This record gives sequence, structure tokens and C-alpha cells, in this order.
Amino acid sequence: MRVDDVQQVLHLARRAHHAPSVGSRPVVVGLLFLAPSTRTRFGFAAATARLGGTPVLVSSVRSTGEGLPPESLADTLRVLSGMSDVVACRPPAGVSLVGLASRMVCPLVNGGDSHEHPTQALVDLFAIETLVGPPGDLHIGISGDLRVRAVRSLLQVLRSLPPSELSLLSPPHRGLDIADLPLELRGRTRIRSEPDFAGLDVLLLPGLAPEAGDGALADDAHLRWGLSPLSAPSLPPGAVVLSPGPVIDEIDPACADDPRVRVFEQSDLGVAVRIGLLQWLLDAQEAT
Ligand code: CP
Repeated sequence: MRVDDVQQVLHLARRAHHAPSVGSRPVVVGLLFLAPSTRTRFGFAAATARLGGTPVLVSSVRSTGEGLPPESLADTLRVLSGMSDVVACRPPAGVSLVGLASRMVCPLVNGGDSHEHPTQALVDLFAIETLVGPPGDLHIGISGDLRVRAVRSLLQVLRSLPPSELSLLSPPHRGLDIADLPLELRGRTRIRSEPDFAGLDVLLLPGLAPEAGDGALADDAHLRWGLSPLSAPSLPPGAVVLSPGPVIDEIDPACADDPRVRVFEQSDLGVAVRIGLLQWLLDAQEAT
């Protein structure tokens, strides 16, 4: 998404946050979810209902007979697009949506594919703004595996509202170089090789999945790079802890009730963001 587009979606999300039942728009939103999802799938269903529309969930592509390949994802998307106003899709694990929308006749929303999770990034940015304040006034830290789709997409949307400072914290072989970042963020980013949360206003925890080889984790990695009794004392008392979710072990159970942890409010705000995104897409369709 372009910088202006992100700002327009956030503007609509702010309005929806203050007035969640915003319309009587009898749209059909196709939800093609071929991998597990709770927040994204239900968030789009709730947003569609609040707009006055109907979400239709499809959770498999059509089989074509024993020993035969199922209908392709590209064909399935084309079919659903002809019967929907918007389609949101999470493809099977490891599959990218790039190039699959070429024959679609309505907009496609990437609900999290092998490379990007743009709507989660919008939710993260909106949660930061709503729960803490304008990103331009904040020092944001991201600690964990920085190569995952949620971080990749968040770094892209942060171009629209860059933080005052960005700290990137990760164990060995799970990080990024400054050169990997969008140009707008490079001058304000510090790479921290130790999990010290001092000075952060926001700590975002994308998680640390197990990995073999160079990316294998030390036994105490989750305690050090996540929020735990070991790491929590370095985080300022007024900071806010967020996670794209689902939370697995990036927040230690001993810290689940830490008042700085706001992950459920973060996911709650996802409905307003998805209302804003759907409105923006539908308005653009109507204008053509
Ligand atoms: N963050 C996220 O994508 O959550 P779900 O997998 O539950 O949709």
C-alpha cells in the first residue's frame, strides 16, 4: 500500500472505532481461508457484518476427484471474485498470493501469506496510535524473529507514520540489517544485540519459532527476547506490549497479567481497521 493509502485507511478506522456500526452496505465479502486463523478471519467477518454486509467463509478449494489435483487457487479466487465485492484470502502455509489475483474481478486482501501480512501491520499501527499515541512521538521496539511476515509488513506501513526511534532486537540469525529496511526508517533505527528494553514506549513481540541449524535458539531465548520475569524489569513502567498473535511463548505466563500487556485490546481494534480497509476498497470500487 502507498503511504497515502495507509493514512486513508487509518482515518476510516478511527471513525469506525468511535462508531462501530457504520452502515447498511449489503456487500458480500468472500473469506477464503486455507490456513488457520482466528483474528484475521473473524475480524473480517465482524467488520463485514458491521458494515451491513454478509461474510461468506470458504475453507477449502474444490476437490475434483480421487487422484486428480484440486481446483487451483487462482481459479478459486477468480470464481469467488465474481460473486463478491471483496475477497480476503489466507493461502495454505508457504504459498504467496503474488500473481494470483490477475484474473480477479474484485479486490483481493492478503490475509497473511508466505511473505506478507499487511492487514496485521495496519492493526499493529492502529493499536500503537490508539493505545499509546502518535508513532512520531514514540520509541518502538520489536524483539524476536524479525524475518517473519508480520514484521516485514509492519516495517512497510511504518513508512506512513515513522516512529521517533525504532529499535530492532533479535537473537543471532533472526535479525535484519539496516540495509533491509525501508529508506524512511534507516536513519531512526538502532539494532540492539542484547535484549534490553530500556527507553521503549512500545514493545512488539512477533515471536520466536523453533528453527534448526544457525537459527537454533538458546534454551533461554524466549525468556530474554520475549517478556518474562528476566526481561520485564528493563521495560519502562508506562510501556505497552503488543503481539500480532497468537501469543505462544513470547509472553511468559508469569507476565500475562502485567498491565503493560495489551494484546487483547490490540486484537479488538482489528475490527475497526478491517472496517476502514473494506470501506476504502468499496469506495474506490464505486468511484470507478
Ligand atoms: N495475527 C494473526 O494473523 O492472527 P490469526 O492467525 O489468528 O488470524
